[in-house]
Amino acid sequence: MRFCILTIYPEMFPGVLGHALAGAALREGRWSMEVRNIRDYALDKHRTVDDTPYGGGAGMVMKPQVLADAIDDAQRWMPEARLMFMTPRGHVLQQAHIHAWMHDDHVQDYIILCGRFEGIDERIIDVYQPIEVSIGDYVLFGGEVAAQVVMEAMVRHHRGVLGNQQTTDEESFALGAENACLLEYPHYTKPPLWNGRSVPEVLLSGHHQHIHAWRWAQAERVTELRRKDLWEAYCAQRGKTT
Ligand code: ADE
Repeated sequence: MRFCILTIYPEMFPGVLGHALAGAALREGRWSMEVRNIRDYALDKHRTVDDTPYGGGAGMVMKPQVLADAIDDAQRWMPEARLMFMTPRGHVLQQAHIHAWMHDDHVQDYIILCGRFEGIDERIIDVYQPIEVSIGDYVLFGGEVAAQVVMEAMVRHHRGVLGNQQTTDEESFALGAENACLLEYPHYTKPPLWNGRSVPEVLLSGHHQHIHAWRWAQAERVTELRRKDLWEAYCAQRGKTT
């Protein structure tokens, strides 16, 4: 899996992805990342990448030609790549997107465009039709942190990065296998009694069926309490009443 990142802050990468399991997998060559500075495609001596918006208003807009040159160059290098643009206006990222992208055997390459300022010239979106991705309904200074969120979610799903595949199969948004819709059940570790609080008896029983049933019930309870949207989807899928 290869990423090409287009940003005006290349020094922000690999960022969190240079550490822990993602960092180890990067060093082992299980995934790779090339970071390109959009300013390198500016033609003036000040390396300008932004300009004032037509129609007025606050902030600056990233100029189309600089972005087009950066994208064209990346696409020459990775002709089959999926192009993504990080923006709060995009589709809000879901585990199902990660799953779909990771299971598309034809695409192993991703070009991720990180916006800054008020945004990018809309004609870039018209021409290149990137997948517009948001990591949530809030506004960051730019797309760099958001790109790292997307990349981390993809890298941890990548074959061989997590030793124990069960870990990704059983966590939040994956319980229930193909159709992910429950939050994760609570976890406990040693000691069995801490600060006057004990670990639920069933988890100490060694009875796998009972443990599984308890975890499933807990996942249902926490989902119903916290996420009505997921709970309703889960119930609808199973013909269960909410
Ligand atoms: N850029 C700024 N805010 C963002 C968000 N919420 N998601 C993706 N990219 C962004």
